[in-house]
Amino acid sequence: MAPAARKIFQLKRLGILTGGGDAPGLNAVIRAVVLTASNEYNLEIVGIPDGFDGLLDSDRARVLTLADVRGILSRGGTILGAANRGNPFAKKTTTAGAETIIDVSADALRNIERLKLDGLLVLGGDGTLRISQDLIAHGAPIVGVPKTIDNDMGGTDVTFGFNTAVATATDAADRLHSTAESHHRVMVLELMGREAGWIALVAGVAGGADVILIPEIEFDIAGLIAKLEERRSRGRLFSILAVAEGARLKNNGQVLRSQADALHIARLGGIGQQVSDLIEATSGLETRCTVLGHLQRGGSPVPFDRWLATRYGAAAVRLAARRGFGRMVCYRDAGIGDIALTDALALTPKLVDPTSEMVQMARGVGISFGDDQ
Ligand code: F6P
Repeated sequence: MAPAARKIFQLKRLGILTGGGDAPGLNAVIRAVVLTASNEYNLEIVGIPDGFDGLLDSDRARVLTLADVRGILSRGGTILGAANRGNPFAKKTTTAGAETIIDVSADALRNIERLKLDGLLVLGGDGTLRISQDLIAHGAPIVGVPKTIDNDMGGTDVTFGFNTAVATATDAADRLHSTAESHHRVMVLELMGREAGWIALVAGVAGGADVILIPEIEFDIAGLIAKLEERRSRGRLFSILAVAEGARLKNNGQVLRSQADALHIARLGGIGQQVSDLIEATSGLETRCTVLGHLQRGGSPVPFDRWLATRYGAAAVRLAARRGFGRMVCYRDAGIGDIALTDALALTPKLVDPTSEMVQMARGVGISFGDDQ
């Protein structure tokens, strides 16, 4: 049988970059983009290294061949490299020994032309896609692909990387169970999730946590201890807590490792140890804290993330082919679609609704959120 005729297509080249923190599935998207562009449209794909930083140095960009994407479907990370501080509107430079922040977005826009890119696919989360929106406002032909393990990107039901992070977090909770039970201890598991507690909620339920602390529901220490004591009164001498890094103790802010500045968002971390110390000090129960950290971002994507990432990659090429610039591919009601990037960003961060069926279900099976309910 004759091979299917390639669609006649006037665009010739698309660029692709991966911005922000990495997430399992980035390589699966890159692979799907290169394969779809080649098989369906005869389009050339140019890989921009290290997020928006790479767009400031067009010499570093290179065409991605089929050989480049062979065998990367199951690989974590990104073959393009990522930079979660790269913002062409606020770039740190040193002039005469002094550090200043300058706007080099004109260089980024010029390089899109210099590289003869008819469109640019940007794989990123909140920060990266907000920068993309600013570039779009200056005429850049960008299509967004939503990525973050936190699953807090609006306009899409799920981002790739999330399900892999949940699998890793659930495995950690399972492992903590056996040692917690042997030693009759309280085990606190600190998970990622800055503003949204999706990982802690889903992995907490899946991993049989007794307490889940998320940024959307402030907790107090009395509510927490009440749950641990109630378990002990039933002969359950151990407890597992799944705590999002952004969880908030009532009348306290989030626990920060470092403050935000002109270039960086605040680094979160430390709430797990704080909760652990509070439990020991208030109740005398022996408590240990595990911080899962970047293990949640690493490793091979689970099958659902490979499936979703491949669908996103193919859809992003098709969207660019339709000149759907200024839009983001999305996954809603189990189907792939697209949405104006401005609309998606207006819905970001997508938070856990404390009144939702999900939270009610968790309460119904006996999980405490450390509040009064
Ligand atoms: O946005 C994803 C995320 O994993 C957050 O949950 C976390 O706060 C952040 O990245 C950490 O990023 P990094 O250590 O790479 O700056």
